[in-house]
Amino acid sequence: LDNGLALTPPMGWLSWERYRCNIDCVNDPDNCISEKLYMKMADLLVSEGYKDKGYIYVNIDDCWMEKQRDSNGSLVADRQRFPHGIKWLADYVHAKGLKLGIYEDMGTYTCGGYPGSEFYLQQDAQTFALWGIDSVKLDGCYGDIGDFAYGYPAMSNFMNRTGRPMLFSCSWPAYIVFNGQIPDYKTIADYCNIWRNYRDIEDSWDSVSDIIRFYGNDTGNFSMVAGPGNFNDPDMLILGDYSLSYDQQKVQMAMWAIMASPLFISSDLGNIQPETKALLLNDNIIRINQDPLGIQGRRIMKNGDIEIWTRTLINKGMAFAFLNMNYGGGPSKVTVTISSLGLNAPFGYNIVEGFSGQSVGTFKPQDNFSATVDPSGVWLGIASVSP
Ligand code: DGJ
Repeated sequence: LDNGLALTPPMGWLSWERYRCNIDCVNDPDNCISEKLYMKMADLLVSEGYKDKGYIYVNIDDCWMEKQRDSNGSLVADRQRFPHGIKWLADYVHAKGLKLGIYEDMGTYTCGGYPGSEFYLQQDAQTFALWGIDSVKLDGCYGDIGDFAYGYPAMSNFMNRTGRPMLFSCSWPAYIVFNGQIPDYKTIADYCNIWRNYRDIEDSWDSVSDIIRFYGNDTGNFSMVAGPGNFNDPDMLILGDYSLSYDQQKVQMAMWAIMASPLFISSDLGNIQPETKALLLNDNIIRINQDPLGIQGRRIMKNGDIEIWTRTLINKGMAFAFLNMNYGGGPSKVTVTISSLGLNAPFGYNIVEGFSGQSVGTFKPQDNFSATVDPSGVWLGIASVSP
């Protein structure tokens, strides 16, 4: 969507995976969907250094509303959990130099059973603009997917007409994929900045590896549609939650960087292990993710459990990942020729290990390159043309 937003994948925080539809602020005041939660995460994005690295969106997900619209048909935030209302929360977030995202649904209800935007698209777009919202995620529960090809473009146009730039995150293709069809990604990219096209991420390695498999298969060539203003969204980062090993956390970071994915953290920023936090803030990873060309990386080779992925970067650079999807036994050694990665400049390439930035040497196209990869782990390289 050519609205000047998401020229690189958006970064920030999103409540859904970790906090779901917890509305029990009486018994669980620190973890319920409430203005307090979003204020706390906004504070932490700034104080813990996330904002300085580019994590600027604070995104509300489902279950923020009253069950009824008001007498004018306008959406209302839950009066107990958001006593000051969304506009006030947006002002709070903006005063910290951050942006506020909100959630709605194309159908009659949100997935959590709150009022949907069907028949109210224009009014809701105006409400969001009035509140000072910076990003809208539009889900697809309780909708007719036959209507999405009209509904999502309509919402995109209504948002545009408000005059307020709002990033548009569409779940449109996800529901088409669930229905066994291949989305028209080109049209989706005309109306949406980012779009979900696969299952919800859950707090497990199975879920992360399943999403990577879907992105590797690239059915419908959705990788080709990515670029400034348009990105596929494989869903939230779960670093800082309960399930992933350190190696698996590196896999999610490396692959979300290679896949040019939005980086929305969904964990408790106030309670993250230092080594996990360092991965989230790793400059090289963020630089790959935010490469200005916005080219989405792809799986170029799969041999049993070993996969090779590459992403073209600016100045003829390249990020590449050796991924080991085996999770038994010990590390595997992977050897390739440099040219088989698509690196053919005659003077060769300087290669650094991606997470540490440590140089591993200079390689010419005909040279072999080897790395050892842990089970359910990754070896990430960054190649730049030798001077
Ligand atoms: C389905 C979406 O894919 C999730 O990301 C989340 O927004 C839930 N709905 C909320 O109900």
